Amino acid sequence: MKAINITFTFQDGQPDQTHVAAEGESVLDVALNNNIQLQHNCGGVCGCSTCHVYIEQGENDLPEISDAEEDFIDRAENPRINSRLACQCVVQGGTSDLVVRIPPQHFLGH
Ligand code: FES
Repeated sequence: MKAINITFTFQDGQPDQTHVAAEGESVLDVALNNNIQLQHNCGGVCGCSTCHVYIEQGENDLPEISDAEEDFIDRAENPRINSRLACQCVVQGGTSDLVVRIPPQHFLGH
């Protein structure tokens, strides 16, 4: 089974973190397994926009973006050309190492 590295970068000044991801795992899975705060209100089924991230490197080898994902990205805060939903970025055989920027997380009550 193929494994790749995902480097997470943060907009709030936290140091970068690099973690190993196995085939079949999503960027959201890897973040949560490593205690990286990333919201996921719908539980990872492409039903919200809270797991929005920016793929800074490696985006061409990720699964293609679906219409539903595109719709939710449009509703995310500050969508950009390299925006994706982390739960939909599943590591596959051809995926290369990724660099993922986590936008500021806003938690309920703040
Ligand atoms: S967690 Fe809701 S779309 Fe990813």
